[in-house]
Amino acid sequence: MIFKKHTNAFDKEALPKHVAIIMDGNGRWAKKHSVPRVVGHRTGAETLKKISKHAGKIGIKYITVYAFSTENWKRSEEEVSGLMGLLLHYLKTAETELAGDNARICVIGDRSRFSPEIQAEMTRVENVTAENDGVIVTLALNYGSRDEMTHAVKSLAQKVLDGTISPEAIDEKAISESLYTHFLPDPDLIIRTSGEMRLSNFLMWQSAYSEFYFTNKLWPDFSEKDFDAAMDAYLSRNRRFGGR
Ligand code: IPE
Ligand code: IPE
Ligand code: MG
Repeated sequence: MIFKKHTNAFDKEALPKHVAIIMDGNGRWAKKHSVPRVVGHRTGAETLKKISKHAGKIGIKYITVYAFSTENWKRSEEEVSGLMGLLLHYLKTAETELAGDNARICVIGDRSRFSPEIQAEMTRVENVTAENDGVIVTLALNYGSRDEMTHAVKSLAQKVLDGTISPEAIDEKAISESLYTHFLPDPDLIIRTSGEMRLSNFLMWQSAYSEFYFTNKLWPDFSEKDFDAAMDAYLSRNRRFGGR
């Protein structure tokens, strides 16, 4: 029995420990409502607050969200600066607003391209929530899997040069530990909204055995009920990890 109807709650043991979400469709939502794209992003940020709180409440330990990719800088200056404004605003209040008081907030990605003010807020919010023992919400910002792997290869190559690791000692664990996600388990489930069925450079190494859930819902419209539907779908899957 997966969904405990009598308690109206999920079996926490069977739920995914780590859910990753590609929050897509803000632009289409804005178009549909005839509002500027940035309003779509603002509404999407509200959805994130709602969903991360809900995820923590039902017993998800880790939630990782794709908020800005290494490719998203290619968008118009107006959209990028709108997104940076929103990002700064949300980081400033993230410890109380994002996922409830007890959430730990982390950032993955190459931070060096953000303004010093945004970088300082990232560090601040990570520090003030570091001891929290609730859901771990990780924001992927200027994140791309290829960029992440490039960084990992460089740092391992440097260690070989320095003589702190031998080439033979480079195994899957050493690679995982060199990624931005070194502190996270691999995602059990990856959700993508808005109907696209691709990874778009998200967690390519980490998703080797992840389950995927795609929905046509646009991210700003994604609700707690939609999240629960993804949990139900996950609970009905049969994960094999290459075994029988
Ligand atoms: C996702 O929504 C948010 C970011 C990529 C920052 P989009 O802005 O990609 O929305 P669509 O795909 O254009 O609808
Ligand atoms: C992926 O969405 C990145 C984020 C959700 C932040 P995109 O909208 O940028 O991806 P593509 O362009 O559809 O592949
Ligand atoms: Mg998109």
